[in-house]
Amino acid sequence: MLPAGFRFGAATAAYQIEGAHDQDGRGPSIWDTFSHTPGRTLGGATGDTACDHYHRYREDVELLRQLGVDSYRFSFSWSRLLPEGTGPVNAKGVDFYDRLLDELLAAGIRPAVTLYHWDLPQALEDRGGWRVRETAEAFAGYTALAAERFGDRVERWITLNEPHCSAFVGYAEGRHAPGAQEGRGALAAAHHLLVGHGLAVRELRAAGAQEVGITLNLDRIHTASDRPEDLAALRRAEVLHNEVWTQPLFSGRYPADEAETWAGQADGPWRRPGDLELIGAPLDFLGINFYRPITVAAAPHRAEDPEQRSAVDIGVTELDPYGTRHTTMGWPVVPAAFTELLTGLHGRYPELPPIWITENGCADPDTVGPDGQVHDTGRIDYLADHLAAVADAIAAGVDVRGYFLWSLLDNFEWARGYDQRFGLVRVDYDTKTRTPKDSYHWYRGLITAQRARTEEPAR
Ligand code: FCB
Repeated sequence: MLPAGFRFGAATAAYQIEGAHDQDGRGPSIWDTFSHTPGRTLGGATGDTACDHYHRYREDVELLRQLGVDSYRFSFSWSRLLPEGTGPVNAKGVDFYDRLLDELLAAGIRPAVTLYHWDLPQALEDRGGWRVRETAEAFAGYTALAAERFGDRVERWITLNEPHCSAFVGYAEGRHAPGAQEGRGALAAAHHLLVGHGLAVRELRAAGAQEVGITLNLDRIHTASDRPEDLAALRRAEVLHNEVWTQPLFSGRYPADEAETWAGQADGPWRRPGDLELIGAPLDFLGINFYRPITVAAAPHRAEDPEQRSAVDIGVTELDPYGTRHTTMGWPVVPAAFTELLTGLHGRYPELPPIWITENGCADPDTVGPDGQVHDTGRIDYLADHLAAVADAIAAGVDVRGYFLWSLLDNFEWARGYDQRFGLVRVDYDTKTRTPKDSYHWYRGLITAQRARTEEPAR
Protein backbone atom coordinates (compact mmCIF):
# COMPACT_ATOMS: atom_id res chain seq x y z
CA MET A 1 0.00 0.00 0.00
CA LEU A 2 1.23 3.49 -0.79
CA PRO A 3 1.98 5.69 2.20
CA ALA A 4 -0.29 8.49 3.38
CA GLY A 5 0.69 11.73 1.65
CA PHE A 6 1.79 9.99 -1.56
CA ARG A 7 0.77 12.23 -4.45
CA PHE A 8 -0.90 11.45 -7.74
CA GLY A 9 -0.74 13.28 -11.03
CA ALA A 10 -1.00 12.86 -14.78
CA ALA A 11 1.46 13.81 -17.51
CA THR A 12 1.57 15.06 -21.10
CA ALA A 13 4.06 16.89 -23.36
CA ALA A 14 3.62 19.91 -25.61
CA TYR A 15 4.29 18.51 -29.07
CA GLN A 16 2.23 15.40 -28.33
CA ILE A 17 -0.99 17.26 -27.48
CA GLU A 18 -0.98 20.97 -28.32
CA GLY A 19 -1.37 21.15 -32.10
CA ALA A 20 -1.60 24.78 -33.35
CA HIS A 21 1.89 24.19 -34.71
CA ASP A 22 2.00 27.38 -36.76
CA GLN A 23 -0.48 29.54 -34.88
CA ASP A 24 0.01 32.70 -32.86
CA GLY A 25 3.67 33.01 -33.67
CA ARG A 26 4.98 29.56 -32.72
CA GLY A 27 8.26 28.74 -34.49
CA PRO A 28 9.02 25.26 -35.86
CA SER A 29 10.82 22.66 -33.78
CA ILE A 30 12.84 19.64 -34.87
CA TRP A 31 9.71 17.52 -34.44
CA ASP A 32 7.80 19.63 -36.98
CA THR A 33 10.60 19.14 -39.48
CA PHE A 34 11.03 15.45 -38.70
CA SER A 35 7.35 14.53 -38.78
CA HIS A 36 6.94 16.39 -42.07
CA THR A 37 9.80 14.42 -43.63
CA PRO A 38 8.37 11.45 -45.58
CA GLY A 39 9.02 8.07 -43.99
CA ARG A 40 9.92 9.32 -40.53
CA THR A 41 6.66 8.70 -38.65
CA LEU A 42 4.02 6.00 -38.95
CA GLY A 43 1.68 6.93 -41.77
CA GLY A 44 3.27 10.38 -41.99
CA ALA A 45 1.61 11.45 -38.72
CA THR A 46 2.49 14.93 -37.45
CA GLY A 47 1.67 16.98 -34.37
CA ASP A 48 0.11 19.75 -36.49
CA THR A 49 -3.22 19.48 -34.71
CA ALA A 50 -2.60 16.54 -32.30
CA CYS A 51 -5.26 16.76 -29.55
CA ASP A 52 -5.81 20.47 -30.24
CA HIS A 53 -5.04 21.08 -26.58
CA TYR A 54 -3.97 24.62 -27.48
CA HIS A 55 -7.62 25.46 -28.05
CA ARG A 56 -9.18 22.91 -25.69
CA TYR A 57 -6.99 23.32 -22.62
CA ARG A 58 -9.95 24.39 -20.47
CA GLU A 59 -11.74 21.13 -21.18
CA ASP A 60 -8.54 19.22 -20.40
CA VAL A 61 -8.02 21.02 -17.10
CA GLU A 62 -11.62 20.18 -16.21
CA LEU A 63 -10.85 16.50 -16.94
CA LEU A 64 -7.88 16.76 -14.59
CA ARG A 65 -9.99 18.43 -11.91
CA GLN A 66 -12.62 15.71 -12.03
CA LEU A 67 -9.92 13.08 -11.99
CA GLY A 68 -8.81 14.51 -8.65
CA VAL A 69 -5.06 14.69 -9.33
CA ASP A 70 -3.22 17.22 -7.23
CA SER A 71 -0.53 17.84 -9.83
CA TYR A 72 -0.23 17.96 -13.62
CA ARG A 73 3.02 17.50 -15.51
CA PHE A 74 3.15 19.14 -18.93
CA SER A 75 5.85 20.79 -21.01
CA PHE A 76 6.43 24.21 -22.44
CA SER A 77 7.06 24.38 -26.16
CA TRP A 78 10.36 26.30 -26.35
CA SER A 79 9.60 27.54 -29.87
CA ARG A 80 6.16 28.78 -28.82
CA LEU A 81 7.85 31.05 -26.28
CA LEU A 82 10.99 31.82 -28.31
CA PRO A 83 10.26 31.06 -31.97
CA GLU A 84 13.96 31.17 -32.87
CA GLY A 85 15.15 29.51 -29.67
CA THR A 86 16.81 32.76 -28.57
CA GLY A 87 15.92 36.39 -29.18
CA PRO A 88 12.40 37.83 -29.44
CA VAL A 89 9.76 36.50 -27.06
CA ASN A 90 6.42 35.47 -28.53
CA ALA A 91 3.87 37.30 -26.35
CA LYS A 92 1.02 35.05 -27.49
CA GLY A 93 2.98 31.99 -26.40
CA VAL A 94 3.50 33.54 -22.97
CA ASP A 95 -0.25 34.28 -22.83
CA PHE A 96 -1.11 30.67 -23.57
CA TYR A 97 0.95 29.26 -20.70
CA ASP A 98 -0.26 32.08 -18.43
CA ARG A 99 -3.85 31.02 -19.08
CA LEU A 100 -3.06 27.33 -18.68
CA LEU A 101 -1.25 27.86 -15.37
CA ASP A 102 -4.02 30.07 -14.02
CA GLU A 103 -6.65 27.55 -15.06
CA LEU A 104 -4.77 24.77 -13.29
CA LEU A 105 -4.34 26.74 -10.09
CA ALA A 106 -8.01 27.71 -10.10
CA ALA A 107 -8.81 23.98 -10.32
CA GLY A 108 -6.57 23.28 -7.31
CA ILE A 109 -3.91 21.50 -9.40
CA ARG A 110 -0.21 22.16 -8.86
CA PRO A 111 1.78 22.60 -12.07
CA ALA A 112 4.88 20.51 -12.79
CA VAL A 113 6.59 21.89 -15.87
CA THR A 114 9.07 20.10 -18.13
CA LEU A 115 11.21 22.68 -19.90
CA TYR A 116 12.50 20.37 -22.61
CA HIS A 117 10.47 17.42 -23.86
CA TRP A 118 12.42 16.86 -27.10
CA ASP A 119 11.14 19.77 -29.21
CA LEU A 120 14.28 21.80 -29.93
CA PRO A 121 13.60 24.97 -31.92
CA GLN A 122 14.58 24.20 -35.51
CA ALA A 123 16.59 27.44 -35.69
CA LEU A 124 18.95 25.99 -33.05
CA GLU A 125 19.23 22.64 -34.82
CA ASP A 126 20.21 24.57 -37.93
CA ARG A 127 23.17 25.93 -35.95
CA GLY A 128 24.28 22.47 -34.75
CA GLY A 129 21.58 21.47 -32.27
CA TRP A 130 22.72 19.69 -29.11
CA ARG A 131 26.05 18.89 -30.77
CA VAL A 132 27.15 22.42 -29.89
CA ARG A 133 27.49 24.18 -26.57
CA GLU A 134 25.58 27.25 -27.76
CA THR A 135 22.40 25.19 -27.56
CA ALA A 136 23.00 24.54 -23.85
CA GLU A 137 23.50 28.30 -23.41
CA ALA A 138 20.32 29.04 -25.34
CA PHE A 139 18.51 26.57 -23.06
CA ALA A 140 19.70 28.56 -20.05
CA GLY A 141 18.29 31.74 -21.58
CA TYR A 142 14.95 30.09 -22.27
CA THR A 143 14.87 28.70 -18.72
CA ALA A 144 15.54 32.15 -17.26
CA LEU A 145 12.63 33.55 -19.26
CA ALA A 146 10.31 30.72 -18.15
CA ALA A 147 11.32 31.08 -14.50
CA GLU A 148 10.81 34.82 -14.59
CA ARG A 149 7.39 34.71 -16.28
CA PHE A 150 5.92 31.60 -14.67
CA GLY A 151 7.99 30.81 -11.58
CA ASP A 152 5.37 32.20 -9.21
CA ARG A 153 2.95 29.43 -10.24
CA VAL A 154 5.08 26.37 -10.94
CA GLU A 155 5.60 23.95 -8.06
CA ARG A 156 8.02 21.59 -9.78
CA TRP A 157 10.50 22.19 -12.61
CA ILE A 158 11.89 19.35 -14.70
CA THR A 159 14.78 20.59 -16.81
CA LEU A 160 15.01 17.73 -19.33
CA ASN A 161 12.81 14.78 -20.17
CA GLU A 162 14.73 11.60 -20.96
CA PRO A 163 17.98 13.07 -22.30
CA HIS A 164 18.89 9.51 -23.32
CA CYS A 165 16.26 9.73 -26.05
CA SER A 166 17.25 13.26 -27.10
CA ALA A 167 20.91 12.30 -27.46
CA PHE A 168 20.91 8.68 -28.52
CA VAL A 169 17.53 8.06 -30.16
CA GLY A 170 17.69 11.47 -31.88
CA TYR A 171 21.38 11.76 -32.85
CA ALA A 172 22.58 8.11 -32.97
CA GLU A 173 19.68 5.76 -33.76
CA GLY A 174 17.89 8.39 -35.80
CA ARG A 175 14.43 7.09 -34.90
CA HIS A 176 13.57 10.47 -33.37
CA ALA A 177 14.19 14.05 -34.44
CA PRO A 178 16.53 15.25 -35.76
CA GLY A 179 17.04 11.76 -37.22
CA ALA A 180 20.86 11.72 -37.18
CA GLN A 181 23.07 8.61 -36.92
CA GLU A 182 26.30 9.81 -35.40
CA GLY A 183 29.02 8.79 -33.00
CA ARG A 184 30.78 11.87 -31.67
CA GLY A 185 27.81 14.11 -32.50
CA ALA A 186 25.55 12.06 -30.24
CA LEU A 187 28.12 11.89 -27.45
CA ALA A 188 28.63 15.64 -27.62
CA ALA A 189 24.84 16.01 -27.55
CA ALA A 190 24.65 13.90 -24.38
CA HIS A 191 27.22 16.12 -22.72
CA HIS A 192 25.63 19.38 -23.87
CA LEU A 193 22.24 18.21 -22.61
CA LEU A 194 23.82 17.74 -19.18
CA VAL A 195 25.53 21.14 -19.39
CA GLY A 196 22.17 22.65 -20.41
CA HIS A 197 20.60 20.98 -17.40
CA GLY A 198 23.27 22.39 -15.10
CA LEU A 199 22.90 25.90 -16.50
CA ALA A 200 19.11 25.66 -16.22
CA VAL A 201 19.35 24.56 -12.58
CA ARG A 202 21.49 27.63 -11.91
CA GLU A 203 18.89 29.92 -13.52
CA LEU A 204 16.04 28.29 -11.62
CA ARG A 205 17.85 28.61 -8.30
CA ALA A 206 18.65 32.26 -9.00
CA ALA A 207 14.95 32.86 -9.69
CA GLY A 208 13.96 31.19 -6.40
CA ALA A 209 12.24 28.18 -8.02
CA GLN A 210 10.42 25.84 -5.65
CA GLU A 211 11.42 22.29 -6.63
CA VAL A 212 14.03 21.54 -9.30
CA GLY A 213 14.86 18.19 -10.85
CA ILE A 214 15.46 16.19 -14.03
CA THR A 215 13.62 13.22 -15.54
CA LEU A 216 15.60 10.18 -16.68
CA ASN A 217 14.39 7.00 -18.33
CA LEU A 218 16.76 4.75 -16.47
CA ASP A 219 16.57 1.14 -17.54
CA ARG A 220 16.40 -2.01 -15.51
CA ILE A 221 18.69 -4.12 -17.68
CA HIS A 222 18.78 -7.90 -17.44
CA THR A 223 21.44 -10.02 -19.10
CA ALA A 224 20.80 -12.96 -21.38
CA SER A 225 23.31 -15.15 -19.55
CA ASP A 226 26.25 -14.88 -17.21
CA ARG A 227 28.77 -15.72 -19.93
CA PRO A 228 31.61 -13.17 -19.69
CA GLU A 229 30.77 -11.62 -23.07
CA ASP A 230 27.16 -11.05 -22.05
CA LEU A 231 28.22 -9.55 -18.74
CA ALA A 232 30.56 -7.20 -20.63
CA ALA A 233 27.66 -6.30 -22.94
CA LEU A 234 25.55 -5.57 -19.86
CA ARG A 235 28.21 -3.15 -18.59
CA ARG A 236 28.30 -1.31 -21.91
CA ALA A 237 24.52 -1.08 -21.92
CA GLU A 238 24.53 0.20 -18.32
CA VAL A 239 26.89 2.97 -19.39
CA LEU A 240 24.86 3.91 -22.48
CA HIS A 241 21.43 3.78 -20.86
CA ASN A 242 22.06 4.77 -17.26
CA GLU A 243 25.48 5.78 -16.08
CA VAL A 244 26.24 8.37 -18.72
CA TRP A 245 23.53 10.32 -16.84
CA THR A 246 23.60 9.10 -13.25
CA GLN A 247 27.36 9.27 -12.73
CA PRO A 248 27.84 12.95 -13.70
CA LEU A 249 24.58 13.94 -11.98
CA PHE A 250 24.96 12.06 -8.73
CA SER A 251 28.60 10.96 -8.41
CA GLY A 252 30.40 13.94 -9.93
CA ARG A 253 32.33 11.90 -12.53
CA TYR A 254 32.09 10.28 -15.93
CA PRO A 255 31.62 6.48 -15.99
CA ALA A 256 35.04 4.96 -15.29
CA ASP A 257 34.73 2.33 -18.01
CA GLU A 258 33.09 4.50 -20.69
CA ALA A 259 36.04 3.83 -23.03
CA GLU A 260 34.93 0.17 -23.18
CA THR A 261 31.62 1.34 -24.54
CA TRP A 262 32.73 4.09 -26.90
CA ALA A 263 36.38 3.43 -27.69
CA GLY A 264 37.43 6.77 -26.25
CA GLN A 265 35.03 8.88 -28.27
CA ALA A 266 32.96 10.13 -25.33
CA ASP A 267 35.89 12.05 -23.91
CA GLY A 268 35.92 14.74 -26.57
CA PRO A 269 36.86 18.42 -26.56
CA TRP A 270 33.27 19.34 -25.69
CA ARG A 271 34.07 18.45 -22.07
CA ARG A 272 35.41 21.48 -20.28
CA PRO A 273 36.86 22.05 -16.83
CA GLY A 274 34.11 22.91 -14.38
CA ASP A 275 31.39 21.04 -16.27
CA LEU A 276 31.08 18.25 -13.72
CA GLU A 277 30.59 20.75 -10.88
CA LEU A 278 27.88 22.46 -12.88
CA ILE A 279 26.14 19.21 -13.83
CA GLY A 280 26.33 17.76 -10.33
CA ALA A 281 24.63 20.65 -8.50
CA PRO A 282 22.18 19.27 -5.90
CA LEU A 283 18.61 18.60 -7.01
CA ASP A 284 15.37 18.53 -5.05
CA PHE A 285 14.10 15.42 -6.78
CA LEU A 286 14.87 12.87 -9.47
CA GLY A 287 12.11 12.06 -11.95
CA ILE A 288 12.00 8.49 -13.22
CA ASN A 289 10.07 7.29 -16.26
CA PHE A 290 9.56 3.54 -16.40
CA TYR A 291 7.70 1.34 -18.85
CA ARG A 292 9.51 -1.99 -19.24
CA PRO A 293 12.83 -3.77 -18.62
CA ILE A 294 15.29 -4.74 -21.34
CA THR A 295 17.55 -7.77 -21.74
CA VAL A 296 20.88 -7.54 -23.52
CA ALA A 297 23.41 -9.95 -25.01
CA ALA A 298 26.75 -9.49 -26.75
CA ALA A 299 26.60 -9.01 -30.52
CA PRO A 300 29.04 -7.92 -33.23
CA HIS A 301 29.34 -4.19 -33.82
CA ARG A 302 27.57 -3.04 -36.96
CA ALA A 303 30.65 -1.07 -38.04
CA GLU A 304 34.06 -2.63 -37.47
CA ASP A 305 35.92 0.66 -37.40
CA PRO A 306 35.15 2.49 -34.12
CA GLU A 307 35.39 5.79 -36.01
CA GLN A 308 32.46 4.74 -38.18
CA ARG A 309 30.22 3.62 -35.32
CA SER A 310 27.15 5.45 -34.17
CA ALA A 311 27.02 5.99 -30.41
CA VAL A 312 24.47 3.17 -30.01
CA ASP A 313 26.64 0.68 -31.91
CA ILE A 314 28.15 -0.74 -28.72
CA GLY A 315 28.25 -4.47 -29.51
CA VAL A 316 24.97 -5.21 -27.80
CA THR A 317 21.69 -6.67 -28.97
CA GLU A 318 18.36 -6.59 -27.17
CA LEU A 319 16.45 -9.82 -26.58
CA ASP A 320 12.96 -10.38 -25.32
CA PRO A 321 12.87 -13.44 -23.12
CA TYR A 322 9.86 -12.19 -21.18
CA GLY A 323 7.04 -14.69 -21.44
CA THR A 324 4.54 -12.14 -20.24
CA ARG A 325 1.88 -9.94 -21.77
CA HIS A 326 3.17 -7.18 -24.08
CA THR A 327 1.54 -3.81 -24.63
CA THR A 328 0.75 -2.58 -28.15
CA MET A 329 4.17 -0.87 -28.13
CA GLY A 330 5.57 -4.42 -28.02
CA TRP A 331 6.87 -3.79 -24.51
CA PRO A 332 6.85 -6.66 -21.98
CA VAL A 333 4.84 -6.07 -18.82
CA VAL A 334 7.19 -6.84 -15.89
CA PRO A 335 6.22 -4.79 -12.81
CA ALA A 336 8.86 -6.45 -10.59
CA ALA A 337 11.53 -4.81 -12.79
CA PHE A 338 10.20 -1.42 -11.63
CA THR A 339 10.85 -2.35 -8.00
CA GLU A 340 14.30 -3.67 -8.95
CA LEU A 341 15.17 -0.45 -10.76
CA LEU A 342 14.19 1.70 -7.78
CA THR A 343 15.83 -0.40 -5.10
CA GLY A 344 18.94 -0.80 -7.27
CA LEU A 345 19.29 2.96 -7.64
CA HIS A 346 18.76 3.50 -3.96
CA GLY A 347 21.52 1.00 -3.14
CA ARG A 348 23.94 2.45 -5.65
CA TYR A 349 23.50 6.19 -5.05
CA PRO A 350 23.01 6.85 -1.35
CA GLU A 351 22.88 10.61 -1.95
CA LEU A 352 19.98 10.41 -4.35
CA PRO A 353 17.28 13.07 -3.85
CA PRO A 354 13.66 11.97 -3.36
CA ILE A 355 12.19 10.25 -6.41
CA TRP A 356 9.07 11.16 -8.34
CA ILE A 357 7.76 8.78 -10.93
CA THR A 358 7.25 11.28 -13.74
CA GLU A 359 5.88 8.74 -16.25
CA ASN A 360 4.46 5.24 -16.23
CA GLY A 361 1.59 3.92 -18.28
CA CYS A 362 0.34 1.50 -20.86
CA ALA A 363 -0.53 1.55 -24.56
CA ASP A 364 -3.52 -0.76 -24.85
CA PRO A 365 -5.55 -1.96 -27.84
CA ASP A 366 -8.49 0.22 -26.80
CA THR A 367 -11.78 -0.20 -28.56
CA VAL A 368 -14.98 1.72 -28.08
CA GLY A 369 -17.68 -0.71 -26.96
CA PRO A 370 -21.30 -0.72 -28.15
CA ASP A 371 -22.06 1.33 -25.02
CA GLY A 372 -19.73 4.08 -26.28
CA GLN A 373 -17.25 3.39 -23.48
CA VAL A 374 -13.67 2.10 -23.44
CA HIS A 375 -13.29 -0.88 -21.11
CA ASP A 376 -9.52 -0.87 -20.88
CA THR A 377 -8.97 -3.55 -18.27
CA GLY A 378 -5.47 -4.30 -19.62
CA ARG A 379 -4.41 -0.75 -18.79
CA ILE A 380 -5.96 -0.89 -15.32
CA ASP A 381 -4.10 -4.13 -14.57
CA TYR A 382 -0.83 -2.59 -15.77
CA LEU A 383 -1.30 0.51 -13.63
CA ALA A 384 -2.37 -1.36 -10.49
CA ASP A 385 0.59 -3.75 -10.77
CA HIS A 386 3.10 -0.94 -11.35
CA LEU A 387 1.77 1.12 -8.45
CA ALA A 388 2.10 -2.00 -6.28
CA ALA A 389 5.70 -2.28 -7.52
CA VAL A 390 6.32 1.32 -6.40
CA ALA A 391 4.78 0.51 -3.02
CA ASP A 392 7.16 -2.45 -2.72
CA ALA A 393 10.13 -0.18 -3.41
CA ILE A 394 8.94 2.28 -0.76
CA ALA A 395 8.52 -0.58 1.72
CA ALA A 396 12.14 -1.52 0.93
CA GLY A 397 13.28 1.98 1.91
CA VAL A 398 13.25 3.97 -1.36
CA ASP A 399 11.98 7.53 -0.97
CA VAL A 400 9.32 7.87 -3.71
CA ARG A 401 7.00 10.85 -3.22
CA GLY A 402 4.56 10.77 -6.09
CA TYR A 403 3.45 9.31 -9.42
CA PHE A 404 2.50 10.98 -12.69
CA LEU A 405 0.58 8.65 -14.95
CA TRP A 406 1.38 8.73 -18.66
CA SER A 407 -0.88 9.99 -20.05
CA LEU A 408 -3.94 12.11 -19.46
CA LEU A 409 -4.89 11.92 -23.14
CA ASP A 410 -4.25 9.67 -26.10
CA ASN A 411 -1.69 11.63 -28.11
CA PHE A 412 1.00 11.79 -30.79
CA GLU A 413 3.33 8.95 -29.85
CA TRP A 414 6.37 10.32 -31.71
CA ALA A 415 7.55 8.06 -34.57
CA ARG A 416 4.68 5.67 -33.75
CA GLY A 417 2.11 8.32 -34.65
CA TYR A 418 -1.45 8.00 -33.39
CA ASP A 419 -1.77 4.20 -33.29
CA GLN A 420 -0.46 3.92 -29.76
CA ARG A 421 -3.00 5.03 -27.19
CA PHE A 422 -1.67 5.75 -23.70
CA GLY A 423 -4.48 7.97 -22.43
CA LEU A 424 -6.85 7.71 -19.49
CA VAL A 425 -9.05 9.72 -21.84
CA ARG A 426 -9.73 8.61 -25.39
CA VAL A 427 -9.29 11.22 -28.09
CA ASP A 428 -11.22 10.87 -31.33
CA TYR A 429 -8.72 12.48 -33.67
CA ASP A 430 -11.36 13.46 -36.26
CA THR A 431 -13.65 15.31 -33.91
CA LYS A 432 -11.17 15.80 -31.01
CA THR A 433 -13.91 14.51 -28.68
CA ARG A 434 -12.61 13.34 -25.30
CA THR A 435 -14.08 10.20 -23.66
CA PRO A 436 -12.82 9.13 -20.24
CA LYS A 437 -11.97 5.41 -20.28
CA ASP A 438 -12.63 2.91 -17.49
CA SER A 439 -9.02 3.49 -16.36
CA TYR A 440 -9.86 7.17 -15.76
CA HIS A 441 -12.67 6.20 -13.40
CA TRP A 442 -10.45 3.59 -11.76
CA TYR A 443 -7.65 6.13 -11.16
CA ARG A 444 -10.12 8.64 -9.77
CA GLY A 445 -11.37 6.00 -7.30
CA LEU A 446 -7.84 5.21 -6.23
CA ILE A 447 -7.02 8.89 -5.67
CA THR A 448 -10.21 9.43 -3.67
CA ALA A 449 -9.49 6.42 -1.47
CA GLN A 450 -5.89 7.53 -0.96
CA ARG A 451 -7.02 11.03 -0.02
CA ALA A 452 -9.50 9.68 2.52
CA ARG A 453 -6.73 7.64 4.13
CA THR A 454 -4.36 10.60 4.20
CA GLU A 455 -6.93 12.87 5.78
CA GLU A 456 -7.98 10.32 8.41
CA PRO A 457 -7.04 11.61 11.85
CA ALA A 458 -4.08 9.70 13.25
CA ARG A 459 -5.06 7.24 15.94
C1 FCB B 1 8.43 8.36 -23.05
C2 FCB B 1 8.22 9.81 -23.44
C3 FCB B 1 6.77 10.21 -23.53
C4 FCB B 1 5.91 9.13 -24.12
C5 FCB B 1 6.16 7.81 -23.46
C6 FCB B 1 5.31 6.66 -23.96
O1 FCB B 1 9.66 7.92 -23.52
O2 FCB B 1 8.85 10.65 -22.51
O3 FCB B 1 6.70 11.42 -24.24
O4 FCB B 1 6.07 9.09 -25.49
O5 FCB B 1 7.51 7.45 -23.58
